[in-house]
Amino acid sequence: MTATTTPSPLADAAIVPDPYPVYAELRRREPVHWCEGLGAWAVLRYADCSAALKDPRLKAERMAEVLEAKFPGQPLPPENIYHRFTKNTMMYTDAARHEALRRSTHAGFTRAAHDHYSRVIERVAADLVSSVPKDAKEIDAVSALAARMPVRSAVQAFGVPEEDLDFVIPCVDTLMTYWSGPQDQPVELGCLLDLLTGLHVYASELVEGKRGKALPETVIARLAAAQDGLTETTPAQTVHQLVLLFIALFAPTTPGSISSGMLAFARNPHQIERFLASPSCVDNTANEVVRYNASNQFTWRVATTDLDVAGVRIGKGQAVALFLGAANRDPEVFERPGVFDLDRPDSGRHLSYGLGIHSCLGRQIANLQIKWFFTALLTRFPGIRPVGEPVWNTNLEFRSLRSLPLRLS
Ligand code: HEM
Repeated sequence: MTATTTPSPLADAAIVPDPYPVYAELRRREPVHWCEGLGAWAVLRYADCSAALKDPRLKAERMAEVLEAKFPGQPLPPENIYHRFTKNTMMYTDAARHEALRRSTHAGFTRAAHDHYSRVIERVAADLVSSVPKDAKEIDAVSALAARMPVRSAVQAFGVPEEDLDFVIPCVDTLMTYWSGPQDQPVELGCLLDLLTGLHVYASELVEGKRGKALPETVIARLAAAQDGLTETTPAQTVHQLVLLFIALFAPTTPGSISSGMLAFARNPHQIERFLASPSCVDNTANEVVRYNASNQFTWRVATTDLDVAGVRIGKGQAVALFLGAANRDPEVFERPGVFDLDRPDSGRHLSYGLGIHSCLGRQIANLQIKWFFTALLTRFPGIRPVGEPVWNTNLEFRSLRSLPLRLS
């Protein structure tokens, strides 16, 4: 089978509020589907996505192809910050280099470190929810809560200095317009490169202690303290990982999961009762929230050789978009996949954090945010209900709510 130019429903922003019927139809009819708008083969079945995430013939090193797709005819020299960054960060590298880069961040992600982050994030969530005024009847749950939870956690658990948020957040917001795969690019290349350079200068000054001060025992403090002991990677590579972490921290993924989780609970009051009645439901909440709505609906790979996926020939050099959000609703794996159900025994099989060597480094921190946020929210406001229609952002890849009006009592 070869690529066709029939318009794909996956490239239509109108599906963002509810892409699942389109996924279900494609999964039945054409589970590996050419999407011209993405310039990629979309893979929709759970079995094919999970196999692809573990297949070394599909490489994560893909950002040179993304540059060519987004800014055709504007190649950059190898020493440009773009290539130095993308060829030296775990997310876009493969095999031995990926392993060494990921290992270099270990000090920030040990079990003991996560125990500490859990206590910190529990307090962050409690403070945030108690900041909602007593007499508030309705709120926009995105701006009041979902957008703020990751920012407060970034300061308290991750160690981004409070006074630098006004620099880092707008920088990442603009860079994210590029970091969403090869679609139309609204921001000029020169501007993106300036921001990327600025974020590197900032990260390097932070690690060297020349700027800001990360709180003790945070991810940044632990990474900075472990720096001198690193033998496999260079100080420049530490800075590249830190820039990647900034992008991941302030990306729409965590707010997207928290806000879509609030919508799921508000529309399914029985699940609030289950949450409040059963500790095992509390423990499964993060899994089910991210299974039900993946905030990173798809991720990318590039074929290093011709290969077959579900009988479809993918050519060397072609891009593949692995639809994690579709895999999470695959009825071959999850019974009644369209139902939000905290008692589900296998929610943890979701692919929302990827799978295999590139699986999300921040998944435990993200899960802690989700668990402690809903603990604080549903204890204080067990009667949340939607009022009016929620508004979704138009980006399917990083699917998140723009506003979510909620009644509180
Ligand atoms: C709900 C929130 C989040 C979601 C849904 C999410 C999703 C993902 C996914 C799907 C991947 C795999 C991408 C691939 O295989 O191509 C990934 C990787 C990654 N994530 Fe997250 N993420 C979240 C939060 C975070 C946070 C808070 C951090 C920061 C600590 C983070 C840091 C990373 C890093 C560094 C990688 C690359 C890992 C590697 O390539 O080895 N993520 N994430």
